Amino acid sequence: MRETEILENADRLAARAVEVFVETANLAIATTDKFTVALSGGSTPKHLYRKLSVTKLPWARVQFYFGDERLVPPDHPESNFRMAEETLFEPLGIDRSQIHRWRTELNDPEQIAEDYRKELDQLGIAPSFDLVLLGIGEDCHTASLFPNTDALNEETRSAVANWVPKLGQHRVTVTFPVINRSACVLVLASGNSKAAAVRQVLKGSYEPARFPIQAVELKDGREVWLLDKEAASKL
Ligand code: 6PG
Repeated sequence: MRETEILENADRLAARAVEVFVETANLAIATTDKFTVALSGGSTPKHLYRKLSVTKLPWARVQFYFGDERLVPPDHPESNFRMAEETLFEPLGIDRSQIHRWRTELNDPEQIAEDYRKELDQLGIAPSFDLVLLGIGEDCHTASLFPNTDALNEETRSAVANWVPKLGQHRVTVTFPVINRSACVLVLASGNSKAAAVRQVLKGSYEPARFPIQAVELKDGREVWLLDKEAASKL
């Protein structure tokens, strides 16, 4: 079941995302005493992370993962880990044992993905998250699941290296089977540049090879899309 909400602006969107995050976290903690979340990268979640960093939650119960990563060192300006570190982990004083990042310093995409699969194995035989945060690219990619790339067809491995021809580089990413086993997926889209993609995904023909985020179809969970007015302007 997809829930779609349209918020006034990027700030309201981030505030609503905090509410969904807190609600999902409290539910998971009440049931299992912990909360596992896969963070997303890019620019949109920055506002969310800044707001979360001043939000009350039993943070010691939270285990942080990353849905994808760029092939750069962890201190690189393009690193998704670095962004979360600066906006969320450092301000909250999160213990290193709660942070599960892609070991990009291994330098070999296949090795980095294999290492992350082992990390995810700790979540069970069929790894899943309580919450997966996702963004959407103008080409309808999500995480690092880009149009017409091999990772879209992955049925068994939880994390893979994905060659992205349009970027001329590898990315590392979790795969749809993992995303679709999660208890909740929260998609954030903000700004005019996302309007056409949002329309295509929500109103257009179903072609997940071309518009990968359409492959998000939770088996048994909640799929929440938060759009600001600009991102929703073509609906
Ligand atoms: C990444 C991502 C990616 C992102 C979208 C949207 O590492 O870049 O996880 O899937 O969410 O590209 O990015 P923006 O928020 O920057 O538009």
